[in-house]
Formats: sequence, structure tokens, C-alpha cells
Amino acid sequence: MKKIIVTGGAGFIGSAVIQELQKFGHDIYVIDDLSFGNRQFVQIPDEKFHQIDILDAKAVTEIIARVQPEYIVHLAAIHFIPYCNQHPFKSANINIQGTLNIMEAVQKLSSIEKFFFASTAAVYPIYDEPIREDMATGPLDIYGLSKLTGEYLCSDFYQKTRIPTIICRFFNAFGPNETNPHLIPEIQLQILKGKRTIELGNLEPKRDFIHTYDMARAVRMLLEKFNEGIDTFNLGRGIEYSVSEIVAAFSRQIGEPIEIVQHPDRIRKSDRLHLLADISKLKNATGWYPEISIDEGIATLVKTESGLHYENRG
Ligand SMILES: NC(=O)c1ccc[n+]([C@@H]2O[C@H](COP(=O)([O-])OP(=O)(O)OC[C@H]3O[C@@H](n4cnc5c(N)ncnc54)[C@H](O)[C@@H]3O)[C@@H](O)[C@H]2O)c1
Repeated sequence: MKKIIVTGGAGFIGSAVIQELQKFGHDIYVIDDLSFGNRQFVQIPDEKFHQIDILDAKAVTEIIARVQPEYIVHLAAIHFIPYCNQHPFKSANINIQGTLNIMEAVQKLSSIEKFFFASTAAVYPIYDEPIREDMATGPLDIYGLSKLTGEYLCSDFYQKTRIPTIICRFFNAFGPNETNPHLIPEIQLQILKGKRTIELGNLEPKRDFIHTYDMARAVRMLLEKFNEGIDTFNLGRGIEYSVSEIVAAFSRQIGEPIEIVQHPDRIRKSDRLHLLADISKLKNATGWYPEISIDEGIATLVKTESGLHYENRG
């Protein structure tokens, strides 16, 4: 059993990671300002839930010093790309300065054994083939750039501390407890409202969608198996799906045809056509493999409104 602080633990991926870590008996603490997350997504007592902003260095340092965690899983960030583009300074500041604040607090600890940083596929430029970790980075937007900076900060942090550091590049997550209007929850929302003609933007781009349950298992297994140095791992499903294929999966699950209408306001001027992870490095390092298929994942989404939290955000 390890004492683990999960920053951003009340978020979409964080809540799945916490459930998985709790299943394995770990003692979980959360730092989250609830700007995007939801307190109800995590089952921990209030004294272990710290509602603070990671930009508040003093509060971050105090809490980390008090908890004395063995592992840090740093997920807190602003990550919805349209929001980052609209609020570039705010997002970059949270993703960079906030990460630095966590690292500076952690450096003072004697208890710390491992540091995990959530990066993103958005650090890569456009590739039409499966992406390996050793392929050149080249972010296309402020979000990817802020996360790539976070990776550089990890490297600096490791050089200074020699604390084993895991950089994990998440591809497109889907599952319950969504906090941002990504493609799959947008379709889910329209279906749950009874629509059978769905308004969407670009239909051709393919994405590597991985269920948050599988992501959480991978995070737990990396924490268990990674013991020295610093390294980078892609975390995706290793299969890419177009928007039309996702809608077809929804159609199969509700047993009804769904018509797609392209809405001009939703069309992005430029978009990657492919974003697919080569996940062999992660599989070889941990023995992990993804379990949930797109149809299995979507089957649960068409039954529940859980996770459309962003609908209620002001
Ligand atoms: N969802 C994806 O498909 C995806 C893909 C690639 C990378 N990621 C990365 O995974 C991590 C988790 O993403 P998510 O999808 O769960 O997003 P999310 O928005 O649901 O989770 C982020 C959490 O961080 C919290 N947070 C934001 N700013 C904060 C601040 N200043 N102080 C404290 N807490 C703050 C939010 O309240 C939220 O609970 C992020 O680092 C994100 O960049 C996500």
C-alpha cells in the first residue's frame, strides 16, 4: 500500500485512476480546485480531498509536506484544446507553473519514490502512421506546447532529484465522468436527448480512443513496474476510429440508425487526419494490454448520463 497524491483527481481520467488505485489498496489524497472536476467523482473522506489551485505554491507545498506521499500522479491541467486556445496564458500558466509548483514541493520530501506526469499525444506533429515515443515532437497548439514544456520540466526534475519519473502521453480518452465537450460525450449527449440526427463537425479525422478504465490500469501498472530513471510511454488503444465509425458504434448499441449532419460551426479549419499510438513500449514494459473495445465502452455510455458534468458548468 502506498500513499499517493493524485492532482486533478476529481477529473475525468483522475477519477478512473483513483478507483483503480483504491481497488489495489492504496491510500489516496487529492489536490484539485474543482474548476473542471467534480467532488462526487471520487470516494475519499473530506480530510484527504484538498480543494486548492496548483498555482497556489504555498498551499501546495504545505499539503504535500503534510501528506508525505510516496507517489505523485500529476494530472491537474487545463486540457480542452478549444478552451486552451481561448485562454492561452491561463492554460499555459496552470500547465507549466502549476507543474513546477508540484515539483518544487515534491523535491523537499524524503518520502517520495515515484513521480508520474500526464502528457499528451498533442506533443506530436501530424503523422499518418502509428506514432512511437522516439519520433520527433512538434506540438501544433498552446496546449501541446505547455505539456511538452512539462516534459522538459520532468527531465530537469529527474536530473536534480533522481526520483524515478514516468512521462505518459495520453491519447484520446473516453468513458464515464466526462468533464469536457469532446466528440464522444457530444454524441452521447445528443443520443441521450433522444436525437437520431446528430450534428457534428469534421467526419474524416481518425483518433485513437482508449477507455479510461484501461488508462487507469496502465497508470497503476506503470507505477508498480517502473523503478528507475525517466522514460516516456504512449498510452492509447492502438486502434484508430473515424467520427463516422464512432457514430456507427453508437448506432449498434442503441439498435437504431443515426444520421449525421455536418454543422458549419463545428467544423475545424485544419485538423489532423490521423492520431494513432504505437503502444508496444508500454505493453513490453508493463505487460498491460487494453481490455475494453469501443463497442463495450459505448454500450455503457448510452445507458447513463453520468459524466456529462460539463453540461452544468457555468
Ligand atoms: N482526456 C483526454 O483525452 C486527455 C488526453 C491527453 C492528455 N490528457 C491529460 O490528462 C490529464 C487529465 O485530463 P482529464 O481529461 O481528466 O481532464 P479534466 O479536466 O477532467 O481533469 C483535470 C482536473 O484538473 C483540475 N484542475 C484544473 N486546473 C487546476 C488547478 N489550477 N489547480 C488544481 N486543479 C486543477 C480540474 O478541476 C480537473 O478535475 C490532464 O493532464 C490532461 O492534459 C487528457
